[in-house]
Amino acid sequence: MLFKQQALLRQKLFVLGSLAIGSLLYLVARVGSLDRLQPLCPIDGRFGPRGQEEIPLRALQFKRGLLHEFRKGNATKEQIRLHNLVQQLPKAIIIGVRKGGTRALLEMLNLHPAVVKASQEIHFFDNDENYARGIEWYRKKMPFSYPHQITIEKSPAYFITEEVPERIYKMNSSIKLLIIVREPTTRAISDYTQVLEGKERKNKTYYKFEKLAIDPNTCEVNTKYKAVRTSIYTKHLERWLKYFPIEQFHIVDGDRLITEPLPELQLVEKFLNLPPRISQYNLYFNATRGFYCLRFNIVFNKCLAGSKGRIHPEVDTSVITKLRKFFHPFNQKFYQITGRTFNWP
Ligand code: A3P
Repeated sequence: MLFKQQALLRQKLFVLGSLAIGSLLYLVARVGSLDRLQPLCPIDGRFGPRGQEEIPLRALQFKRGLLHEFRKGNATKEQIRLHNLVQQLPKAIIIGVRKGGTRALLEMLNLHPAVVKASQEIHFFDNDENYARGIEWYRKKMPFSYPHQITIEKSPAYFITEEVPERIYKMNSSIKLLIIVREPTTRAISDYTQVLEGKERKNKTYYKFEKLAIDPNTCEVNTKYKAVRTSIYTKHLERWLKYFPIEQFHIVDGDRLITEPLPELQLVEKFLNLPPRISQYNLYFNATRGFYCLRFNIVFNKCLAGSKGRIHPEVDTSVITKLRKFFHPFNQKFYQITGRTFNWP
């Protein structure tokens, strides 16, 4: 009798467990699919092409589903034509700076209903092999979008690569260029931390930051060290200015994007001539992550991957002071050229 009751109980538990797991799997799949569909995901869920009537939520979800199919390459040419979807060359590019907050900026701009991001870094202009594939190859790497939307891509290596300004100029001389910067010493340490993590993952040892940033022979800042060179923003910007006027650049404060993202994003909306659509609703502070995360709508929100917001190793204060002193004159020049002043030490 007791055995029979136990068997019945086990059976009930099994059914309940299966139901719970099934529901969980459904939810995971649903949130996952929303993640992939987010480029069309509007802030208020109802933003349609300007001057057009609001698209009902159900229809929009249907369209998002289609966009996903298009991305996977499952759509026929007829379907693409029917829904008026296009792959457009970017109207704006986040050209750098590496570790400045380029991913956060791209993802946050993607909250805007008129912006569609290229998810991957495309490295078209900095990679000779990719560049040789031609502009059509580049365009085909862009996500599907509606004609009224603009496409944005980010490849931070563009900022420091010699050939890139001329190549971008040849594609579109009036393109808008976004540069996100952080206090140069912090950025250099962040850059080092990323490389260090890569070495550790491969069980390799690596030098301490101090050893790389300071030349042991002269005890001066080692300008051959890439993480240092990348932080001399003005040197790189000057190369770009041979091709583009300063009005075509917008400088984003990467330190402020961490602590107070909305005003920075509003400045970008203005620079891109977009109507202000990103609001505080779209950004919420996640205390566990210690960063702002993104809210697309009531169902879907996300934080950046764990590789964004790493803990930096402790660096000798005398090295930090030396680096800050080194960057100081370059920073002054950068403020002067860009017309944007930062409180960098
Ligand atoms: P750290 O890892 O040094 O903290 P990039 O995307 O260009 O590689 O920049 C990475 C940096 O973006 C991170 O550097 C992090 O500080 C910054 N960042 C800005 N906003 C963020 C956000 N909302 N979530 C996570 N990281 C963010």
